[in-house]
Formats: sequence, C-alpha cells, structure tokens
Amino acid sequence: MQQDKLEEKVMDESRQGEALVIEGQLTGKKKLYIESYGCQMNFSDSEIVASILHKDGYETTRNMEEADLVLLNTCSIRDKAEQTVRNRLANFNTIKKENPDMKIGVLGCMAERVKSKLLDEEKLVDLVVGPDAYRDLPNLLEELDEGRKAVNVILSKEETYDNIAPVRLGGNGITAFISIMRGCDNMCTFCVVPFTRGRERSRDPQTILEEAIDLRDRGYKEITLLGQNVDSYLWYGGGLKKDFDKASDMAKATAVSFAGLLEKVAEAVPEMRIRFSTSNPQDMTDDVLHAIAKHDNICNYIHLPFQSGSTRVLELMNRGHTREQYLDLIQRVRRIIPDCGISHDIIAGFPTETEEDHEDTLSLMREVEFDFGYMFFYSERPNTFAARKLEDDIPLEVKKRRLQEIIKTQNECGQRRLQRFVGTDQIVLVEGTSKKSDDDLFGRNDQNSVVVFPREDYQPGDLVKVSVKSCTSATLLGEAKELIRR
Ligand code: SAH
Ligand code: F3S
Repeated sequence: MQQDKLEEKVMDESRQGEALVIEGQLTGKKKLYIESYGCQMNFSDSEIVASILHKDGYETTRNMEEADLVLLNTCSIRDKAEQTVRNRLANFNTIKKENPDMKIGVLGCMAERVKSKLLDEEKLVDLVVGPDAYRDLPNLLEELDEGRKAVNVILSKEETYDNIAPVRLGGNGITAFISIMRGCDNMCTFCVVPFTRGRERSRDPQTILEEAIDLRDRGYKEITLLGQNVDSYLWYGGGLKKDFDKASDMAKATAVSFAGLLEKVAEAVPEMRIRFSTSNPQDMTDDVLHAIAKHDNICNYIHLPFQSGSTRVLELMNRGHTREQYLDLIQRVRRIIPDCGISHDIIAGFPTETEEDHEDTLSLMREVEFDFGYMFFYSERPNTFAARKLEDDIPLEVKKRRLQEIIKTQNECGQRRLQRFVGTDQIVLVEGTSKKSDDDLFGRNDQNSVVVFPREDYQPGDLVKVSVKSCTSATLLGEAKELIRR
C-alpha cells in the first residue's frame, strides 16, 4: 500500500531501527546494542547515550545476541511508531530467554510517555530512561545490578548535554547532526512532543561551534543543526525560552537568535555545508532567510511543515498561523532565496476536517509546488489537547483516502520541481554508493534533491559539479563534470 511505502521512505531516510555502532575502534569490557526509531533528534540522542556509556566501559556491537545491554531509543509521535517499539521489545525478550543476564532498556519519548508501565505492568524492560535523564544511565545501571528498579523520566529545565561530545554512530563520516536545542513550547494540539521532551531550552552557542569545528577537523563535510523548532532558538546565558523576558539587560543585549547562530556556524566552518531542521512557520523570521541568502555554505533548503491548508483547521491545531500567512512566508522565501528547496509535513484527517478543508490542503500544495514532503494521517495521542477536547471523528478510510490524494498531488508537484534541474549543472556532495548500483554514487544538491551519477574516480565526501541529464520521480540522474573540492 502507498501508506506503507511512504512509511518506508521516511524510515529509509532516517535509518530507522538499524543497530547503531561506533565508527573507528572504541573498546570496552561490556557490550551495548542500541537501536533508534523516530526523528533525527533520537539518532542524535543515541550518540550522546553511546558517549555516556562509553565512559562507563561499554563498546557498541551490531550483534544483539552478544550484548550485555540492549537499548531502544523510541518514538511516540504516532500510534504506529509505538506499536513498532512494542513488537521490537517482544523480539528482544525472546532473545533474552537464551541470555537472562542481558538487560533491556527503553529510552526516549515512549519511555517518557508510558513511564514505568513497560517495566511494572508489561514486564518488557529492565530500564526506563526519559530524554533528559541520559546522564543518569551509569547510576541506573548500577541500581539495576543491585536489584533495584531503574527508572528516571524526570524532565529537566536545563539539560542540553552541551558538554558531551557525541560518539558518531553508524553514519557515513560525511554528514552529521548537531543538536542545538531541546523540547518544544508550541503545544500544537495533535502533538505529543511537548509532553515527552519538555520545555524548550537552547544550547550554549560556543559548544555548538566547538562541535562543528571538531567535525570539520575529523573530515565531515556537512552538518544539520537540529531542534524541534529551530527558529525559536534563543541563547541568553542559559534558561528557558519562556523566561527570556525576566533576563537582565546585559543578557538580552548579548542574546543569540537562530539567525545569529546560523551565521556564526557558517563563518566558523566555511568549507562545510550547513542545513537545519525543523522550521515552523509561526516562528520563522526574515533574518533567518537573509542569513541563508548571505552565506553560500548555508544550503538553500527549508523544511517548513504546514499540516493543513485550512485556516479553520490550523486554528484548531494551535499552529499560530493562517493559510495566508503561510503563503506569504513562502513568497518571502522565494523572493529572498532564489530557487530554495522547500519541503513540508501534512496531517490528513485531523478532527472535524471537512472535504472543503482537505481541498484547501491540496490547493495549497499546488500553489506552493513543494519539492517533497512527509505525509501522515492523524493519529490521536493520549493527553494532547486534541485527544482531550476533540473527537477523532474522521473514519480511517476517509483519512487514508485523503492521504492518498495528498501523496498523489505531492508526487506530481515533486516531479515537476525536479524537472527544473534537468539540463543544469548541480553541485553535489557525494554521500555514498547508490543503492541500485555499485558503479554509481549518490549525493544531494544544495536544495536537498538526490543526485545519482557514474562513479568514475570520484569518492564519498567529494563536492562534484554534475551535469543533470534526466530525472526519475524522486531522483536526478547526471554525469560528473569536475571536482570542486575533495
Ligand atoms: N517540530 C518537530 C515535529 C515533530 S513531529 C520536528 O522536528 O519535525 C513530525 C511531524 O509528524 C509533524 O510535523 C506532523 O506532521 C506529524 N505528526 C505529529 N503528531 C502527529 C499525530 N498525532 N498524528 C499524525 N501526524 C503527526
Ligand atoms: Fe510538535 Fe508543534 Fe512542537 S508539531 S514538536 S508541538 S512545533
């Protein structure tokens, strides 16, 4: 089914569920097997967890059977994500029967949402650790060894893991994530993230710059600055975003906004490509657009979820912007950053959504012509405003049918958008070998579109000028012209 294909695409992009292992040679006495699901932030968090546990004597393994500790970094965003986690935990428990000393732990959003239920009632795990409690892992493991319950799901107002150098797990050695903030204060009514990841807090820019420079020195070529709502980044010496008004005049005068941070990072590592995710229309300001336009190494690409094209539904979602404001922002993006790649997230079948509202979503998609997007049908999440106050009244078949129409519209728009590159030269950062053929390499252009071309003597990490000859529905095909930088 199309929906399954779509989930596969999303999963493919974020390396869902793969065992994450440390690059290079790190050795320890005990073995850790860690799998990540969900958003990029979870993958980034798993690297922090590996770093904390490495100091505690663990090395990572790809082979679950030999692990002393098995960790699952989990996602709660939709019901299907939680079902995947439960199935995986059941698998782990079958393996544990052969190896009763093995400890199983659940991390991340589902740990936070379900808390000790997975341990006490369902007896699926030995350890439950929420997203702000990873520093406590060594203590929790000790408690476990002493036969005590190991649960820490306390959300923090300060934790940004800013002094922990993540151990890079299972990546390509070319692109890496840097987490710049944690939590989200937006309270979109469908979304579980504010409950599972807590209040919004930003990370000290100095530590972000140090991490960027370290990645550059280790040969990385591209970084993605990560946050649930990056445009809301605000550093004023520490503290929650919501308390900024109470800060001293001095702290206010030296505060760093997201645009300021982007420029600092772009200037600190001018030879690297900079990307960021996720932006939210209600918080994105023109100074971010100007920063992108001003720096060649900040990629011309914005992921800008809009969820629904109907202002009535947007209001019910508490998105903080109307259809017109979104379209106006898109116009400013197009004006300030010529030829910017734009992608979206859409939810089909939010409570009360009428056929007319759905048509508004389709017409907005046609008007903007997004390069690509991530499309979902609404899944009610416990304790959210929508779950408490709105009836999940759109039948599943209707949600699915609307989602199909959204996917079809996106495929048409996406293909048209790709056509504009055919016959042009694109600068591509090579990320690896094409999945379809060992003779081909793949990478991305500035706008984040995937480009495949014959390998010749080029290699991953190269920045190559590629002449684009044709395209499939989602990929540009070309031939290398010259090496720009190795
Ligand atoms: N700001 C976050 C958003 C996380 S959720 C980020 O960094 O991307 C990613 C997307 O999942 C959302 O934009 C939304 O389109 C979708 N989503 C969130 N909650 C959902 C729900 N209850 N049902 C269906 N889709 C949902
Ligand atoms: Fe969720 Fe909205 Fe924040 S989608 S992560 S509450 S911006």
